[in-house]
Amino acid sequence: MDVTTVASWQQLPRAAHLPGTVVVIDLLRATSTVVAALASGAREVVPVAEVAQAQECARPGDLLAGERGGLPIPGFDLSNSPREAHVAPLAGRRVILTTTNGTRAVRRAVRAGAQRILLTALLNVSATARAVEGTQRLTLLCAGTAGQASLDDLFCAGALLHRLAPREVDDLGLAARELYAAHRDHPVDYLSLCAHGRRLLQLGLVQDLEFCCREDALPLVAAYVDGSVGRA
Ligand code: MLT
Repeated sequence: MDVTTVASWQQLPRAAHLPGTVVVIDLLRATSTVVAALASGAREVVPVAEVAQAQECARPGDLLAGERGGLPIPGFDLSNSPREAHVAPLAGRRVILTTTNGTRAVRRAVRAGAQRILLTALLNVSATARAVEGTQRLTLLCAGTAGQASLDDLFCAGALLHRLAPREVDDLGLAARELYAAHRDHPVDYLSLCAHGRRLLQLGLVQDLEFCCREDALPLVAAYVDGSVGRA
């Protein structure tokens, strides 16, 4: 397995082609929210880029979810909170999700023609690692923040790489694996230091941060197929 790590979805050129499997990572919080929603029984989560697109594609019975600036979107049913998604009555429901970076990262992976697209968080990291074993070309597409690397996403990428035995890993992947190994025993404290972690704390969302750090609490594989993410 050869691993390439992309620090943010904006760093992937619009014309980029990604062979093989792409794992999208937005630990804080979009991919954590998707995993929590599927664990709560949501039938599928539809990742869209824009608020207006979410409203347009919602059908009766669907739930609208998302954030802008980390805050709930007025008129939407749910925010982008994995904790909220985990307790919400989502059984059998379709959730339309739009977030600043995470859902856009998924859209970019689709545009890049990836053969297989999975979404991971720490909540399901071992299940994702098992699902990608044997893959020859693996891209870890971090959502990032404002076009820059996000420590939280790299930490999650490192957690995934820690569980794999790749033949080749790029330098960013190596760094991610190192930082995960160094801080895996105190993820909440560590991720409270990074920009996104600090922002969640400022917004009073420390419990979301704690929830996102629950490694392997929701052991499912989240796969994007034909426009939506469901359990593989
Ligand atoms: C994003 O997509 O940028 C994030 O998930 C933002 C957030 O913390 O809700």
